Amino acid sequence: MAFHQGQSLADAVREATAVLADAGVPSPRVDAELLADHLLGVGLGRLRAMLLGDSPAPEGYAELVSERAGRVPLQHITGVAYFRHLELRVGPGVFVPRPETESVVQLVIDHVAGMAHPKVVDLGTGSGAIAGSIAQEVPGAEVHAVEYSPFAHAWATRNLKPLGVTLIQGDLRDALPEHNGTFDVVVSNPPYIPAEAIPTEPEVALHDPPEALYGGGADGMELPTAAAASAARLLKSGGYFVMEHAEVQAAWIATMLKRTGRWSNVTTHLDLNGKERATSALLAETVPDE
Ligand SMILES: C[S@@+](CC[C@H](N)C(=O)[O-])C[C@H]1O[C@@H](n2cnc3c(N)ncnc32)[C@H](O)[C@@H]1O
Repeated sequence: MAFHQGQSLADAVREATAVLADAGVPSPRVDAELLADHLLGVGLGRLRAMLLGDSPAPEGYAELVSERAGRVPLQHITGVAYFRHLELRVGPGVFVPRPETESVVQLVIDHVAGMAHPKVVDLGTGSGAIAGSIAQEVPGAEVHAVEYSPFAHAWATRNLKPLGVTLIQGDLRDALPEHNGTFDVVVSNPPYIPAEAIPTEPEVALHDPPEALYGGGADGMELPTAAAASAARLLKSGGYFVMEHAEVQAAWIATMLKRTGRWSNVTTHLDLNGKERATSALLAETVPDE
């Protein structure tokens, strides 16, 4: 890399953009700017103004660019992932939250509008993105979160404690039995990738934890199916379940929910790219025993 001491910020960012583009990084210019801003801490707007002048490149910039060129996720280098209004701490051992999941949170927020104290649980919370957003954006909500991986649980603790979320380390298949039949909403972005569909991007394949990616079974449906069964256990009658999934799983999930006979209003939702990436349903009212 031809970075040198005394180089201007503008030259260094231009060079970094070329290096990152060569390495196949999808948004090389933005990443080059964000890495510079990570060191300077001035904000992207001010950084772009500085690029027009003769400010020097910050010390340590070449090292960060070379790490990113090795396809380490930007969020692992900066230690931060932005999700809705949250700034989450992330790093090795936890799934980096994705923009499409922000739409799943919106479905929950729209559903609970008008409820005074909705009780919500996020199954497989990872960094705490979904649970934390709901706690932050829905005043009066009682939010719980479940995470199995001890590493992800540690990151979630850091992110969710200040937001008042009740986090437990447990398996979404049998977690929170003492809360059976009490939740207004169960939300989940479970692992769902089919076993053979190994992601091609190095950031995902090498840095997202495998237990966050693969849903189990050839079709990746084991954990999504388990999340639906737990939702039926945890929700009160009429409660709302919403789950993110792969586009190819939309029809299977709708069929799976309808086949149990426990759900009504099964609805597939599109993400911002028009893909069928989430499904919601209401838990059917239970008929009291004779
Ligand atoms: C796709 S990631 C989603 C993380 C986060 N909800 C988000 O949207 O960014 C799935 C998460 O489920 C967790 N997980 C996997 N199996 C689990 C299980 N049996 N019980 C609870 N959590 C589990 C993974 O460790 C991972 O954090």
